[in-house]
Amino acid sequence: MPSLSEKKEEVLKGLLTQEKSLLPKYFYDERGSKLFDQITNLPEYYLTRTEIQLYQELLPSLVGTIDLNKLCVVEFGAGSVRKIRLILEHLPVEAYVPIDISSDHLNIAAAELSREYPQVDIFALSADYTKPSELPERFDEFGKLGFFPGSSIGNFEKKEAESFLIGTNKTLGTGCRFLIGVDAKKDREILEAAYNDSSGITAAFNLNMLRHLNATIGSDFDLSGFQHEAHYNVELGCVQMHLRSVRDQIVNVGDQEIAFAKQELIHTENSFKYAPEEFAQLANNAGYEVENLWQDEKKLFSIFLLRSLN
Ligand code: TRP
Repeated sequence: MPSLSEKKEEVLKGLLTQEKSLLPKYFYDERGSKLFDQITNLPEYYLTRTEIQLYQELLPSLVGTIDLNKLCVVEFGAGSVRKIRLILEHLPVEAYVPIDISSDHLNIAAAELSREYPQVDIFALSADYTKPSELPERFDEFGKLGFFPGSSIGNFEKKEAESFLIGTNKTLGTGCRFLIGVDAKKDREILEAAYNDSSGITAAFNLNMLRHLNATIGSDFDLSGFQHEAHYNVELGCVQMHLRSVRDQIVNVGDQEIAFAKQELIHTENSFKYAPEEFAQLANNAGYEVENLWQDEKKLFSIFLLRSLN
């Protein structure tokens, strides 16, 4: 765990630059995680609902397509207990390795899951899932299926997304498959509504980052001094989340004073959207080929089954 002064330094690093930014990981304290849960149920946030529906359709069809003998599912980031349950319900999974940095949360979720699925060998791996990991030797002979739902791939920059995929290929090894959810490019109205819902949950989620920082590093952000903003940048193919300062103001972080001009932005997250052929190219660059692609009727969301070329 980073110390308080390290956390402060990290926050200051983002705020003492020309274009201010805060890291998306600060979204997720307890309240932030609850708000995100609510986001996934919003009428405007089509992503979660569409993805789950797609899994319900495609998972039964994997039986008979991929080799299910001694199947080990490796999930990168293990937040989505709901979605791994879908896989466990539909496929004869023998082993499950959730990889996540926060070991408390991970161990609790893994223990819960193994009570429900005592026949599955679950190994919770505490690690930075954006880097390659060593899987336990006892799974050497297993077929590996990587799993990365939620379109979290969109939260990486393009180059990072590529190196993440290369890393998963290393972790999973020769012959692996990889099931990954990817949000598609679409009309601005649909995207901006998904990231700025009418009931204000997304705004509360974005602003909660400031509350979280106040509570952990003792900063004094005034939450009424900032407004949530989500804008689709068509050139980049990316929804950019910001907090906009509504007035000139000073925020104290430790003994540093940070000046905000009226209208100044703090960048908090990117969510890149991919046309299917764009994502296929990215996967190719990372040593995968597309074995199958599923999209909903409106082509809002894509799920790719990738196969390692290594
Ligand atoms: N990973 C989510 C996404 O890109 C995160 C998210 C949803 C989000 N709504 C948000 C991040 C609003 C910041 C603000 O879809």
